[in-house]
Amino acid sequence: MIVVTGATGKFGRLAVEALLRRGTAPQDVVATGRATGSLADLAERGVTVRPASYDDPASLRAAFAGADRLLFVSGSEVGRRVPQHEAVVAAAAAEGVGLVAYTSIVRADTSSLGLAAEHVATERALAASGLPHVLLRNGWYVENYDLAGAVEHGLRGASGEGRFSLATRADYAEAAAVAVSSNGQEGRVHELGGVGVTMTELAAEISRQSGADVRYTDSTPAEYETFLVGVGLPAPLAASLADADRGAGQGDLLVDPHDLEALLGRPATTVAEAVRAALAVRV
Ligand SMILES: NC(=O)c1ccc[n+]([C@@H]2O[C@H](COP(=O)([O-])OP(=O)(O)OC[C@H]3O[C@@H](n4cnc5c(N)ncnc54)[C@H](OP(=O)(O)O)[C@@H]3O)[C@@H](O)[C@H]2O)c1
Repeated sequence: MIVVTGATGKFGRLAVEALLRRGTAPQDVVATGRATGSLADLAERGVTVRPASYDDPASLRAAFAGADRLLFVSGSEVGRRVPQHEAVVAAAAAEGVGLVAYTSIVRADTSSLGLAAEHVATERALAASGLPHVLLRNGWYVENYDLAGAVEHGLRGASGEGRFSLATRADYAEAAAVAVSSNGQEGRVHELGGVGVTMTELAAEISRQSGADVRYTDSTPAEYETFLVGVGLPAPLAASLADADRGAGQGDLLVDPHDLEALLGRPATTVAEAVRAALAVRV
């Protein structure tokens, strides 16, 4: 039985779908999260749905009961994740889970990104627990960018000519589904991402496909943070994104695409394909 946390979110849902598509029987999948009302369609398909909160250890133990494997999707409450993730690891250990696959961040152990700290703490908790585990160190989602909106507004950032290994959330989720359901994954560390692109190259691709003159405007991390707050992002998120761009400028979000393609067993979806898909649904 494979339990998936965060299945109520976008990544976890895609991972459950990938497990089913790749042949895991619905009755062998348990989808968890807090807002489990959104999982009714999966329940109708035979997937077991169990509520679980990272803030409620008893709910985690109940959700993980009988699990052979756990796909542990990192939580979204930045700043609160160390105790939350430690609770997940403790519950998995208490239930004797046979393999935990955790969605971390690219090169967590050496990254200068502020976001890496909670992932490092989680990786350490997993190591200390003695649980067999595999690390899925995900790079940046291409969905972090409003590719269709860029046709009108352009792209902004603070990464200079730094390259991001962008990949689709669906590809990362499928890779996670493969890792958690395969043998021989214990102890593996996958550095995951697609072919690296600069923001200037991404803007050029959007220009090429849309016919519009899409430009990338670079700024300092502090200026970018101020811009993001100005367009309505919460201050902590703006700070985190500006810091990620700073790190990307020095290569912190760049990896070889090999690990992602090896798990997928096919080439990753390209940035050009992601742009095409985003422009196709543009209203
Ligand atoms: N690499 C990247 O570019 C990138 C970008 C964005 C996010 N991420 C990371 O990847 C994760 C998955 O991304 P996503 O796009 O699927 O995010 P998402 O749609 O916001 O989903 C987050 C999931 O985390 C669950 N969650 C959050 N706090 C929880 C808690 N206290 N207890 C139980 N479940 C909790 C949510 O469950 P409920 O909704 O049921 O509460 C939801 O299922 C994020 O949480 C974040 O760590 C990475």
